[in-house]
This record gives sequence, C-alpha cells and structure tokens, in this order.
Amino acid sequence: MGEVWMKLSKVMLLKLTNASSIHVLVVVIFIVLSAVLMLDLLNLSSKMAHMNKDNDEYSHKHGQTRGIKEWKNIRRSVGTEPLPYLILKDIVNIDTIPVREPTCAVNSILMILVTSAPDHFDRRRAIRNTWAKDRKTHNDSNWQTFFLIGNSRDSVKNRKIEDEFYEYGDILLGDYIDTYRNLTLKVQNGFKWAVENCQPQYLLKTDDDCYVNTRYFPRFLDQFNPNRDGLYAGAMFNDRGVVRDKNSKWYVSPEDYPMSVYPRYASGTGYVLSKDVLQRVVEAFSEVHPFPVEDAYTGVVVHRVGVSMLDTGRFTMYNKQWRICNYLYLLVIHGVTPEQQYLALKYTDDTLVECPGQKESVTWY
Ligand SMILES: *[C@@H]1O[C@H](CO)[C@@H](O)[C@H](O)[C@H]1NC(C)=O
Ligand SMILES: *[C@@H]1O[C@H](CO)[C@@H](O)[C@H](O)[C@H]1NC(C)=O
Repeated sequence: MGEVWMKLSKVMLLKLTNASSIHVLVVVIFIVLSAVLMLDLLNLSSKMAHMNKDNDEYSHKHGQTRGIKEWKNIRRSVGTEPLPYLILKDIVNIDTIPVREPTCAVNSILMILVTSAPDHFDRRRAIRNTWAKDRKTHNDSNWQTFFLIGNSRDSVKNRKIEDEFYEYGDILLGDYIDTYRNLTLKVQNGFKWAVENCQPQYLLKTDDDCYVNTRYFPRFLDQFNPNRDGLYAGAMFNDRGVVRDKNSKWYVSPEDYPMSVYPRYASGTGYVLSKDVLQRVVEAFSEVHPFPVEDAYTGVVVHRVGVSMLDTGRFTMYNKQWRICNYLYLLVIHGVTPEQQYLALKYTDDTLVECPGQKESVTWY
C-alpha cells in the first residue's frame, strides 16, 4: 500500500513541474481525498481487528471453535457509532453429540436413573465402584444403573462424555443442553427411554450425590413391597409454595405453573415409581408443560394421573452419622460425597456381622 502510494506521488510530482494552475488544483484535491480515504480505511481495519478479538474470546469461552461466523450490519463506522455485532449461526448444533442410548436389560426388577452433570466424573466413578457394582455377585435379582447426561456447550466436554459412554455403556446421553434449568427435560428423557426400551418393574430416580442401598432395595421391592402397582414413594415435600423470585434457581413462571402451591411431592434426591405409574406419567408428559423444578414437576404429573404419594423414612435427605444397623433400613441417602460412597457401602455390608439380632426392614416405614 505504502509503496504504491509513493510511486503515485512521484508521478504526480513529475506532472506538477510543468502543469497549469488548474492541473495543480485537480492534483491537490486528488491527494487530499486519497489521504482521507486512507485514514478511514485504517480506522475500520483496526476496529475489525478489535471485533475479531472479541469474537475469539467469545468462541473460547463457549467452546465454539467451529461456529460459522456471520457479520451483521457491517458499516464503516467512525466515531461513537456502535460496533457492528455478530451472530453465531449454529450455536447449538455444531459441537453437540446426538442421542446415545445404552443397552438395558428388559423387565428388570429395578432400574436406577441417576441425574449427573457432565463434569461430575468423580461422582460417577465412585458410584460405579460402589453401589452400582456387583449386581451379578449379589444375587438380588436384576437391577441396573444408568446416568442421565446432556450436551454441554463445550465440545471438549462432549467428546469426553462420548468416550465415557463407549467405555462404560451406562450413560443415556440426551440431546438437551445440560443445565440446572433443564433438569426436567433430562428426567423426561430418561423416563421415556426406560418405558420404550426397558420396562423395569420399578424405576428409581436419584442424583449423583446419593447413596442407594442396592444390597437391600431390589430384594425389598421384589419380595416385600406391598405396593406393586400405583407406587410413588420418597421423602415427602408438603405444601411447598411455588418460587416466583426470578433470581432463584427454583423460579417457575405463572405461565408454566399457575397455582401457588405444589401438590405433595417426593424430593428429587430419590423417588421410586412402579411400572404402571411410570407408563402413565410418560403418557401425561404431553399434557403438563415442563417447568424447571424437576421433582415438583414429576409430582404434578403423578398427581394428574391420580396417584398419591407414599412418604417413606427409608429415603432420607440427610447424610448424618448413621449407625451401621441403620443401613438395614435406609434405602436412599442424600448428600453423600464420592469418598463417603465407599464408607456407606462398607457399612451396609457390615450389617451382616454387626447387627446379629436385627432383621432387615420389610415395610416402607
Ligand atoms: C439367584 O437367584 C435365582 C432366583 O432367585 C436363583 O435361581 C439362582 O440360583 C441364584 N443364583 C445364585 C448364584 O445365588
Ligand atoms: C435446554 O435445552 C434446550 C435444547 O437443547 C436448549 O435449547 C435450551 O437453551 C436449554 N435451556 C436452558 C435453560 O439451558
């Protein structure tokens, strides 16, 4: 650019030496106009560089390294005019992983669906090594555990989850974006998959910070549970008001759920549904618009299909210092760290020797 400019100026200078005054005027005007144009171009290119930098930062933050970028409203803006903004056209589709479904045993006694976040590998590892393990050696009939995970907005994380899916075969990877506000979609996705592919006798929905007593629970369901049909059991929430504070993570809009109180429902840390209830709940998903509080939503749908909840002390929201013999009774414990999973399983196994006179509990209470 500079070189061309120098050459042009030399030619002009040569012409200038033997030109008339009108020629001089034309040349001067030409030089001034070119200079203005040059400055303007310089200005714009520095702005473009700036915007590209913003864009790179955005891409980095959101893991969108392959998004198609489209400039909108590019103008040769000078002064205080706002910078043109850009739109990432395919913000969701480009790096996501399509649905991946594991294989499940059909008609098992208990299917355990664990809601888990893409980042929670430590929790999943602890669960795989403790209560989700050994289902063949402990012949408590057949039960199986699967993790529910969605796509994240980070392509690297998505690849990791896909690898984990292939390595362990115990992940149902849904096509929703994995956020707290999308938990209801996650659970709907898991329930539908279970009904369409696996038809377990009972389904337990729990979280990845919970201990499930798989030594006693499947056997209890198989042999002692009196509620073979119409079962919706867990730790009860009664008269819970709907949160209308928009800053809360439990916020639900009046459009999504108009009533001010939820029907009694079971805490999402663990609830179990019998096959018939699961089937009816999945059918009713289309009649109740999903709203973000997953366990309340399930409660509303169960209520709608006319099933009432069974409140059981065997599902606890608190990970207190339970005594070993309490593990003859407790079926789901919330608030368990990965390290504590190992301990909880050990206590459960210890019940066999530590609680000689005591029998495992065979009722819900
Ligand atoms: C497991 O249970 C089934 C049916 O309850 C029984 O037939 C089988 O012998 C058991 N297997 C072991 C290894 O205990
Ligand atoms: C939920 O997932 C959908 C589908 O992937 C996505 O479009 C939406 O942005 C997500 N919502 C939230 C609140 O993350």
